[in-house]
Amino acid sequence: MQGKEERSTREKTMTDRKDYSLLRHNTFGIDAKCKRFIEYDTVEEAQQVAQMLTEADRPLLILGGGSNLLLTADYDGTVLHSGIRFLEQIDECHIRCGSGYVWDDVVAYCVENGLYGAENLSIIPGEVGAGAVQNIGAYGVEVKDLIVSVEAVEIETGRIRHFTNAECEYSYRQSKFKHAWQGRFLITAVTYKLSTTYAPKLDYGNIRAALAAKQIDFPTATELREVISEIRNAKLPDPKVLGNAGSFFMNPIVPTQKYNELARQYEGMPHYTIDSEHEKIPAGWLIEQCGWKGKAMGRAAVHDKQALVLVNRGGATGSEVVHLCETIQHDVRQKFGIEINPEVNIR
Ligand code: EPU
Repeated sequence: MQGKEERSTREKTMTDRKDYSLLRHNTFGIDAKCKRFIEYDTVEEAQQVAQMLTEADRPLLILGGGSNLLLTADYDGTVLHSGIRFLEQIDECHIRCGSGYVWDDVVAYCVENGLYGAENLSIIPGEVGAGAVQNIGAYGVEVKDLIVSVEAVEIETGRIRHFTNAECEYSYRQSKFKHAWQGRFLITAVTYKLSTTYAPKLDYGNIRAALAAKQIDFPTATELREVISEIRNAKLPDPKVLGNAGSFFMNPIVPTQKYNELARQYEGMPHYTIDSEHEKIPAGWLIEQCGWKGKAMGRAAVHDKQALVLVNRGGATGSEVVHLCETIQHDVRQKFGIEINPEVNIR
């Protein structure tokens, strides 16, 4: 068994702070505080946290890298964060990672060690636990395609639970952790199955065009990771420079009949076929058609290179971003008769 532990030699103790600023914990760069902030570094600590929480600590917000979060006010409750950081290779194609491990470090490990299937999920911000809640996805791959099982501590009982992929009920940007199980579990680890056979997925969007521009016919996994990173970096703002949470909205899935009506009106409208009765339409395209690309409302704005991304131009409050979000939703509803919903967790 190969192992990679990130625990310092000096024994760490659980972080437990009062009136704690979440500025460092959300990529939107919103300066909000929470009443209590707890970070646990082991499964045992997660169990201790489950046991010590009382009604006075609620509501609870379980946070990953904060890359999919918009805080609209100070959080009048407890924020829980996993500091469980390890990656171990269990056998030829399975790896098990702590929920606080940085997702892109998982992808890097896989690419460097001949484990294939995660390349297209390169440089998605965030951590392993949140990735399993959100079912992160990009360029035709979703993390549910790789997840075997999820380990968690049940907050109510402190018991350790193991969930299979099927039990998590994954679908596009959804899982049971976001719905029926919301706020019930502290995810501690995720096990993934990769492949030792390299079968790159190159057919999504402009991957092939980007490879052709570099005169690469058949990329190595490292080259594919580089190209994916370049495509993302060209469209998605760096949160260190411009606060944002990646795609702000989910791409709406509409009945085929609705799609056909719109396609007749808007020639060349991009779409992805889901099944014989549903089509997915890029929200970024809908928002751009409404004239919002690059436009601002106060200190919140729509990114000029990808209209699906809302940005904080500096000092925006969460409410300003929500106001912009609602205005865009209204305009898309008026123009297309389509409801677009935030992917970002608004608190
Ligand atoms: N488009 C526009 N205008 C825009 C943005 C997009 O016309 O401002 C059009 C593009 O030309 C293209 C289509 O919309 O025809 C799709 O655009 P893109 O490939 O950039 O992907 P997306 O559907 O906008 C989704 C994910 C991204 C992921 C990319 C690539 C969601 C909500 N978003 O975006 O995920 O990186 O596909 O797979 O599904 C994230 O979740 O934070 C994220 C960045």
